[in-house]
Amino acid sequence: MRVESVATAALPSGLAALGVPVFSHADGPRLAAPAAGLPEGLQLPAELDPSWCRRHGFTGKVEQAVTFRSDPSVRAPSPEGDDTSATGSSDPDIVLVGVGDSSLLDGDRGLESLRRASAAFVRSVGQADAAALLLPGSVGLRGDESAAAVAEGAVLASYRYDDFRTGENPGRLDRLVIVGGSVADATLAGAGAARGVRIAESVSLARDLVNEPPSSLTPEKFTEFFVRRFADSPALSIEVWDEERIALERLGGLLGVARGSAQPPRLVRAEYQPVDPIEIDGRVPHLALVGKGITFDSGGLSLKTAGGMETMKTDMGGAAAVLGALDAAAALGARIRITALTPLTENMPSGSATKPGDVLTARNGKTIEVLNTDAEGRLVLADGLSLAVESGPDAIVDLATLTGAAVVALGKEIAGLLGNNAALMAQVQAAAERAGEPIWPLPLPDDYRNHIDSEIADMRNVGRPGQAGSISAALLLREFVGTVPWAHLDIAGPARSDESHRYLAKGATGFGVRTLVALVTSEAFAHWLGHAAAG
Ligand code: BES
Ligand code: MN
Ligand code: ZN
Repeated sequence: MRVESVATAALPSGLAALGVPVFSHADGPRLAAPAAGLPEGLQLPAELDPSWCRRHGFTGKVEQAVTFRSDPSVRAPSPEGDDTSATGSSDPDIVLVGVGDSSLLDGDRGLESLRRASAAFVRSVGQADAAALLLPGSVGLRGDESAAAVAEGAVLASYRYDDFRTGENPGRLDRLVIVGGSVADATLAGAGAARGVRIAESVSLARDLVNEPPSSLTPEKFTEFFVRRFADSPALSIEVWDEERIALERLGGLLGVARGSAQPPRLVRAEYQPVDPIEIDGRVPHLALVGKGITFDSGGLSLKTAGGMETMKTDMGGAAAVLGALDAAAALGARIRITALTPLTENMPSGSATKPGDVLTARNGKTIEVLNTDAEGRLVLADGLSLAVESGPDAIVDLATLTGAAVVALGKEIAGLLGNNAALMAQVQAAAERAGEPIWPLPLPDDYRNHIDSEIADMRNVGRPGQAGSISAALLLREFVGTVPWAHLDIAGPARSDESHRYLAKGATGFGVRTLVALVTSEAFAHWLGHAAAG
């Protein structure tokens, strides 16, 4: 989808639909007057007809989008399919797009309302060459922010994964025109829209990788994609470790998980050096990102059920989010340094697989007794986090589809946030709110450390049955971050969506990309990071 921005006076012709924002108010829906008024010649009643709205169940709430034809006798398509009016010009369908209560259309929640409203509009238009959406005026959002949210919602809502479908695929909206008031408003909105589109493209990239079948996207293929994607990015350099190098570097967790698989593991290490770095006290703030990259999780010898395995191609969702975030960070010119690490492997059962009872030695020298081979994410992250620490970052953020317990605690739409540093966690939470990706903190109590005490090793890889599974997993991760400020996002729930709704498609969501992008492009975060290092 292409997204552009025009002034109200420059509304193009040939539109299939024109979206008009409508507030929901206690006394009924009310047109949200756009910044520079309505386009000329628009067939809209000054006040929305309350009985029409009632009949169509339209209240102006976010996610409602109802097509409104001012003159049905003119607008009804003729049997020949000739959809032009008596005057010969084809008027667009008018779509009333709910944007919710005007007093709520500000800040982070306002941006999320616009993403959802835009998604509802795009879904209601369906396949068409072009449609336009008016930006609501006089709300507490800047025009560029609003346009970015609208563009993001629109592009993400039109996402489909069609690589393995044959035959005709249903078309989508080709071109969205954001109508932004004056010429100056439109210029500002255009810059915002470009940013929104770019972020949505990086999210789509992460979705594509997660949706790709597991025997197609092997660790090797994931790596090749990584290398190809960033081959021409001067700010990004990529290093790939193959199985031999992984053994040489003593990544015992990653090797232990990979042992049962016919596919060799990989580790990707990406370095992003900003072209225009921000300097704080004479140095560039440095963030490390680590993503769990299990390209298929069968559970290993502690085999999952058939049902439990159905969605386990999603188990590299953390690695995909890290790659997507790097992609956007480079495109948007993030001004901090980023080191990204993604341990990649399958988790499979076989005669050579790690057995329950085996002990692995991770990169930092600590030993882990593997009592359940299905708790494999923490094993590969142990190495990834150890390497992250060695890169000397000011903070580490990891993303992982780590525990079913996170889904039990927070459901399918909210990620768990754990860590060893409240200030960093607050930064991550703020970025997630800005991005519209819900996350919620869970505690990391020292008193639960004994849940992962082992009879023979430094720790075991499972906690107590039925108790605080996301916490015991994170407590194990904590053993590998030393004293570096660290935040962990357990994205087991939100990495996939069970339905196509809002701006999500059924399947991969790309969850985490937008939070990371908000984080690494935030000036406030860069300053926090720079000062975190100073202590
Ligand atoms: N990849 C799974 C976690 C998961 C479960 C992600 C459901 C998405 C949806 C992880 O590797 C796993 O299997 N965790 C186990 C840990 C247990 C054996 C301690 C789990 O959550 O059951
Ligand atoms: Mn598992
Ligand atoms: Zn897993």
